[in-house]
Amino acid sequence: MSDFDIENIYAQIADDLRSTGLSIIENAMDPIIIQALNQRIASLEEDTFQTAGIGRQSDHEKNALIRRDKIRWLDRSNELEAGYLQAMDDLKDYLNRRLFMGLFSYESHFAHYEKGAFYKKHLDAFKGKANRVLTTVFYLNEDWQTEDGGELVIYQAEDHNKALCKVLPQQGTLVTFLSDEFPHEVLAANKSRYSIAGWFRINASTAAHIDPPR
Ligand code: OGA
Ligand code: MN
Repeated sequence: MSDFDIENIYAQIADDLRSTGLSIIENAMDPIIIQALNQRIASLEEDTFQTAGIGRQSDHEKNALIRRDKIRWLDRSNELEAGYLQAMDDLKDYLNRRLFMGLFSYESHFAHYEKGAFYKKHLDAFKGKANRVLTTVFYLNEDWQTEDGGELVIYQAEDHNKALCKVLPQQGTLVTFLSDEFPHEVLAANKSRYSIAGWFRINASTAAHIDPPR
């Protein structure tokens, strides 16, 4: 049995979110799970990844100016992917208990940034519009160096032109932030870069409209 203390990680995330709305935690997951996720990613054929879109945008050229990553949604029918989704479900329950966030569901995809790929500055949700409330990004890249590029740059909630911090996409690092507060971008990676991005939603269903999972 691993003695990894996930409750302690959840507590740190809750504290960070309460004080700043942003949390960056290294070694946030059991190394055994990280290894397994890496093997899972390595076993996936590249053609199971699809070009990522932006909202309902279907203009591929415009899209490619904004983001160049390829994605594959996580699926509960695979045991490992289900394990990751379960960890995020537990985080959801923890945050709901501690911070009364009212988080309702979670959706998540693997993202592959090939050499040269980037994602320009964006917000994951727009105030009052979307129901994505909390973003998570988890990194899977062993021994990532500064010269490998591909940093996540997070901008200030108060001033979207001012960078707040740069995060190396280092294996085991989990970044969590309020989706409609912090603009962020992925700088061009100099080598293949893998992450798992995900979003907690609140329930936006009404009698006339059942909120789709994505
Ligand atoms: C996203 C995103 C960041 C990353 O998918 O919306 O901002 O570091 N990803 O992969
Ligand atoms: Mn994003």
